[in-house]
Amino acid sequence: MVQRTLARYLTEEQRNKGVITADLKFLIEIVSRACQAISVAIGKGSLGGVLGEAGSDNVQGEAQKKLDVLSNDILLDANEWGGHLAAMASEEMDLPHLVPHRFPKGEYLLTFDPLDGSSNIDVNVSIGTIFSVLKCPEGADLSTPEAAEAAFLQPGTAQVAAGYAVYGPTTLLVLTVGNGVAVFTLDREQGSFILTQENVQIPADTKEFAINMSNQRFWEAPVQRYVAEMQAGKEGPLGKDYNMRWVASMVADVHRIMTRGGIFMYPLDSKIKAQGGKLRLMYEANPMAMLIEQAGGAATTGRQRILDIVPGKLHQRVPVILGSKNEVDRVTGYHSA
Ligand code: AHG
Ligand code: MN
Ligand code: MN
Ligand code: MN
Repeated sequence: MVQRTLARYLTEEQRNKGVITADLKFLIEIVSRACQAISVAIGKGSLGGVLGEAGSDNVQGEAQKKLDVLSNDILLDANEWGGHLAAMASEEMDLPHLVPHRFPKGEYLLTFDPLDGSSNIDVNVSIGTIFSVLKCPEGADLSTPEAAEAAFLQPGTAQVAAGYAVYGPTTLLVLTVGNGVAVFTLDREQGSFILTQENVQIPADTKEFAINMSNQRFWEAPVQRYVAEMQAGKEGPLGKDYNMRWVASMVADVHRIMTRGGIFMYPLDSKIKAQGGKLRLMYEANPMAMLIEQAGGAATTGRQRILDIVPGKLHQRVPVILGSKNEVDRVTGYHSA
């Protein structure tokens, strides 16, 4: 059987369907190469000296792990020379990273969560990389990193591509260019991503939910109600028994939902209300929402479709409820009941 590599998939999307441009194809290939490099670094673990704390804090107020910093550097180095990007933004950088003057500038903006699931690095549990691609608005001011922030403040509906890599027992790349969701598996011997699933579809109903239960006492009434109903099982109003999973790496929790359905919630709660939520809109919520919708699921804050949010700032946080459509619709409905 002929293997379809990521390069071939992207070429076909470009040639047959006109879905993507040559530059976007190049961009995605470069991001995939960076993910391979991150995967190799992760695979070395203690032997490569990549575990543990970096000794610095990021703009989110989190202590950075060595792999947060290393993954960010790998993505920056891989992407700045190609001429396809105008600027990049990341969870690990206060301000956008402009393409240095010695390189040509392109028409795209790239945002990423270089290493998602940082708390799982040192315990050898699946982690990932999440990315989102936007077009840079015509005439955007890219004279300084501060000025460049405005170019990124576009709703998720403007994304032209989104994806994540999962570094688990296998390394996978899950991608959408706005034409369904495709899954690629890293062939470590060949050093390339091979298409292993196309047109991913998330079942509309589920019996599996993902939420950090330790925050239960802080949740708002609609989420309290929904989780209580799920926990009531067959005898409750939903009439079925639910199971629960919480990896605490968004990529891993979302990938399980991509694979067999489910609902993921990091809702608003009284502890994080002032900051708007836990997860970051531009490089966590938006790319995941695009992927989930492209696979037939839904993604809201409880009050609004995530992809419709007009960002006010680069590191904006939002509540996230995503996954199997009927379940997301139900709990979203509870917010307006
Ligand atoms: P990151 O490691 O990129 O900072 O993201 C962590 C996020 C996300 O991956 C996960 O869903 C969530 O934080 C877990 O939060 P809790 O530790 O509060 O469960
Ligand atoms: Mn973090
Ligand atoms: Mn993350
Ligand atoms: Mn991260």
